Amino acid sequence: MPKDKTHDDSRARWEANADFWDARMGDESNFFHRQIVRPGTEALLDVQPGARILEIACGNGNFARRMAGRGAYVVACDYSEKLIAHARRRAVQEKNIRFAVCDATDERALLALGEGRPFDKAVANMALMDMSDIAPLFAALDRLLRPGGIFVCSLHHPCFVRPEGRYLSPFVHQGQAIIGQPVPQYYYHRPLSHVLGTAFAAGFALDGFAEVPDNQPEEPVICILRLRRRAEA
Ligand SMILES: C[S@@+](CC[C@H](N)C(=O)[O-])C[C@H]1O[C@@H](n2cnc3c(N)ncnc32)[C@H](O)[C@@H]1O
Repeated sequence: MPKDKTHDDSRARWEANADFWDARMGDESNFFHRQIVRPGTEALLDVQPGARILEIACGNGNFARRMAGRGAYVVACDYSEKLIAHARRRAVQEKNIRFAVCDATDERALLALGEGRPFDKAVANMALMDMSDIAPLFAALDRLLRPGGIFVCSLHHPCFVRPEGRYLSPFVHQGQAIIGQPVPQYYYHRPLSHVLGTAFAAGFALDGFAEVPDNQPEEPVICILRLRRRAEA
């Protein structure tokens, strides 16, 4: 399938924002990640020592280091070469993480991360809405995960974070993940039916779901999905 016309520019913008992003996230990530994203994601992911975990769109690698710190073996990828360089620099002592540059809209590139053994789990934090296409990712995960393996992903809650007031139709818009970043990034709005429909079509079932507010207690800004690969291959 041809890539969305914004795809290459989207990647270039993440390269332009990479140093700023790394400086703001540091070794411990920012308040939003620690307080809003991390608790629900970790509850659904349930990292166990010895687990093989694939992280998609890992940014500067903080969550990968956190999982490795709990005894998991992690393969973590991002399509920004600069962010992967930052991730490697921050994890120089870490033996249980392999970082790779990989575009998550490229199914073949994702499959090459597999090392000939299935992953128990996969995770993508705050990244699905940054991807120009999510079908290749789900198709690849169906082959990369073991039967019954899980994919946990946190994303902007599309019912509540939709700046143009539209919900049902997918659309592309621009915004800032962190105020003051050098250039705006692209966001790919998709209704929940689109995200879940893509996962269901690839053979996944939803078996965990969280909605997390930030400043407005009745308005979740993110949702976290746990999608389980079918038990039979
Ligand atoms: C908002 S950041 C989140 C980074 C990290 N997961 C975190 O929570 O700190 C979104 C990330 O998605 C990555 N990204 C966007 N589209 C991608 C794609 N097609 N393939 C791989 N990475 C992608 C960006 O480079 C960026 O690192």
